[in-house]
Amino acid sequence: MSDPRILVALDYPAAADADRLVERLDPSLCRLKVGKELFTAAGPRYVEQLAARGFEVFLDLKFHDIPNTVASACRVAADLGVWMLNVHALGGRRMLEAAREAVGEGAERPRLIAVTVLTSMEQADLGELGITEPVGELVDRLAGLAGRAGLDGVVCSAREAGPLARHFGGGGLMVTPGIRPAGAARGDQRRVMTPAEARAAGSTHIVVGRPVTRAEDPAAAVEAIAAEWERAG
Ligand code: C5P
Repeated sequence: MSDPRILVALDYPAAADADRLVERLDPSLCRLKVGKELFTAAGPRYVEQLAARGFEVFLDLKFHDIPNTVASACRVAADLGVWMLNVHALGGRRMLEAAREAVGEGAERPRLIAVTVLTSMEQADLGELGITEPVGELVDRLAGLAGRAGLDGVVCSAREAGPLARHFGGGGLMVTPGIRPAGAARGDQRRVMTPAEARAAGSTHIVVGRPVTRAEDPAAAVEAIAAEWERAG
């Protein structure tokens, strides 16, 4: 079974838009990330359709609520057959533990990862919330909480992947956005890494949006990124 490390972000407002891309992609070379926009537009049946077409899906809904509600949502997501889902570590230890228990056991269970601090948040934004801890230390603290709750890894910048991996034992999943193949447009991403740099820094999976979704030939873009990833191994 292939284990593709490229997670293509389906950042689209409707299933029809996503389909135009998905039709051109190969499930042995990439997985798909469905976030709040597409999920709100197209719903769980669309996620099931992607799975039926052979794609493994990362459901990026970043659950954050009381433990019971998050656990129930995780259970439903697991029943949908998603490969991976995520929650906000700021929901706290009890929420993380409840989410972890809800996804079940066994090799077929969905992977469960945590978001620590949104990269859109700067120190001043945290200060407005009454959080004075340096952002890097807070990220590390929350990753530690997630690791102790039994989660499988974190979404983080590739720069943080190496240091944070220790919280998840040997097999932690370090899922990193902000990836731009050499020569690709940065768009609104500020601190970017190439796929090879990300792998060398400890990423286990890379989230790639526009370098694939806006490519003239998305399949070729995925192939090139996959080849770069392999060469960096
Ligand atoms: O188009 P691009 O490659 O920048 O898309 C990256 C994807 O990763 C988007 O879905 C974006 O929301 C997501 N993401 C991110 N940075 C984070 C967390 C998620 O770019 N810190």
